[in-house]
Amino acid sequence: MAKVLLIDDEPSILSVLSTLLKAEGYDVVTASGGEEAQKLISDEEFDLMISDIRMSPINGMELLKQAHNEKPAMSVIMLTAYGSVETAIDALKLGAFDYVTKPFKVDELLITVQRALEYNKAITENADLKAQLGTRYHLESIVAESPAMQNVCDMIRRVGPTDTTILVYGESGTGKELVAKAIHAYSRRKEKQFLAVNCAALPEPLLESEMFGHVKGAFTGAAADKEGLFEAASGGTILLDEIGSMPLSIQGKLLRVLQEKEVRRVGSNKNIPIDARVLAATNTPLEDLIKDGDFREDLYYRLSVIPIEIKPLRERREDILPLVYHVLRKETPQGQTPPNIDADASAVLESYSWPGNVRELENAVKHAMTFAREEKITRDVLPPKVAATTVSTASATAGPGEISAGRCKSLKAFLRELEKEYLQQILSNTGGDKEKAAKALKISLATLYRKLPEEAE
Ligand SMILES: Nc1ncnc2c1ncn2[C@@H]1O[C@H](COP(=O)(O)OP(=O)(O)OP(=O)(O)O)[C@@H](O)[C@H]1O
Ligand SMILES: [Mg+2]
Repeated sequence: MAKVLLIDDEPSILSVLSTLLKAEGYDVVTASGGEEAQKLISDEEFDLMISDIRMSPINGMELLKQAHNEKPAMSVIMLTAYGSVETAIDALKLGAFDYVTKPFKVDELLITVQRALEYNKAITENADLKAQLGTRYHLESIVAESPAMQNVCDMIRRVGPTDTTILVYGESGTGKELVAKAIHAYSRRKEKQFLAVNCAALPEPLLESEMFGHVKGAFTGAAADKEGLFEAASGGTILLDEIGSMPLSIQGKLLRVLQEKEVRRVGSNKNIPIDARVLAATNTPLEDLIKDGDFREDLYYRLSVIPIEIKPLRERREDILPLVYHVLRKETPQGQTPPNIDADASAVLESYSWPGNVRELENAVKHAMTFAREEKITRDVLPPKVAATTVSTASATAGPGEISAGRCKSLKAFLRELEKEYLQQILSNTGGDKEKAAKALKISLATLYRKLPEEAE
């Protein structure tokens, strides 16, 4: 029997919830305040903690932090007041499994409790190893060297298993769809469909019937009943891509669908219940569209319960070369060795501004592979726009804003760092073969070892 710790300073809520959970067969321990809860968290073992956020003097966030530190295996669900979405997001960032908004629907709460316990079990007992391998594969397919991308992966792991609506935003080609797919793969919905609709690609009437379906005769050409993507994605996930291009009339209908969890096919007056998790993606900042009256603010709040930002590639340069190698490996037929990249081409790739982000990088690498000679990628086989980049070593190491007196390093230290980076680059090009690297660098092997003391051990 799962043991649940229930914390709320409102006696009525505490008693209702406790009765409800006991009726479901859970072993419930209650605490009516922070101090009592702190002691229980330390002294006893629980599978799940459900805590109100707003309490004084010790609030739910402090209890969450304590639980996370002392009992990392225990799942936590937070109860939040309607409208305090930001606090709820902070709670997820601090490691809460999910949150439930007050006043809560009984079904919704019980399902969340069930999922939290299932998730907990899967993690602690490693029971669902196969599924975990599946999901890990998906996150592994995302290259994430930079702290910004690692953060995105953390968010995917954390919010994937919840049913929360997520808005993924970032410039074109940054990987929004990839992230949306990973969220699906990381959820309990992974065995069901992931369907995407591009709101910019379809004219208004078609988009509406694509999303919500239609009945026979609803408009000219509607020869038969057709289910929409919301119905088809039942149990799975639907991605509303380029949501910023959605016409206002459909935005209103979508808002109703999200609130009521029901769709009505075009031309019908019957409501059909739906169970699709909704993700949305945009490369136009929705805040700007709201200002211009092109996007409904109420819909924005519904969609962006959890926003995930994907930074442009030029702001996370650590990802560039790993992405290049990732594409090289992906595009090389099995059993063959991917081509090498010489130092000059590497520097060019790292310095270029990548306005088209990862998609442009993929195309550039494919282009280079087509024209490469002797398995080597050099500057001259890169697309002309990329090849024309001037390499600035200083900018590769420190951004223009980073040169403040306090953070300035000596020229010697700077050169040493640069040298080390270059050596490592060459070493990775030679697949770690130090003899080959020394030869390429025109230095003796001994010098190479001296310059790379950590590697020499
Ligand atoms: N971090 C990453 N690791 C590996 N591949 C990536 C990464 N980011 C993006 N890609 C790849 O780059 C390409 C573009 O990504 P995706 O289609 O997800 O971008 P997008 O943001 O949806 O673009 P658009 O705004 O044009 O629709 C895809 O082939 C994707 O697999
Ligand atoms: Mg996309």
